[in-house]
Amino acid sequence: MTLVDAATRVRDNAHAPYSGFRVGAAVRTASGRIFVGCNVENAASPEGTCAETGAIAAMVAAGETEVAEVAVVADAKVPITPCGGCRQRLAEFGGAGVPVVMATLKGARVTMTLGELLPLAFDASHRARG
Ligand code: THU
Repeated sequence: MTLVDAATRVRDNAHAPYSGFRVGAAVRTASGRIFVGCNVENAASPEGTCAETGAIAAMVAAGETEVAEVAVVADAKVPITPCGGCRQRLAEFGGAGVPVVMATLKGARVTMTLGELLPLAFDASHRARG
């Protein structure tokens, strides 16, 4: 199964009764395993989580921490990009060269690297005291 297929499939399980906007995400790790996530909204809106966040949580819970590729799928006119917070979460586990494939249900695709999506990402090195 391709990464986009995995993201498309898990999107069906999204809990998005408030926005009606279902999103699926999948990450492939350096070891080749695939982890998926969907958006999980909440009546208390700020408590909802993005699909990418769910996929990252599943990956870390399984003991993996190295993202090699990402796919995000939504039923939108144009491929959607991960939100700012999810770009930062992805950058925690993937380098600037990691490809992020953004796809629509109708098959439109855009691929960008994490570095393009989040230039000058804040990382652990920035935590060094001056
Ligand atoms: N959403 C994601 O899950 N991933 C994205 O990349 C962008 C937005 C979700 C959050 C919310 O549940 C819904 O899409 C509408 O914003």
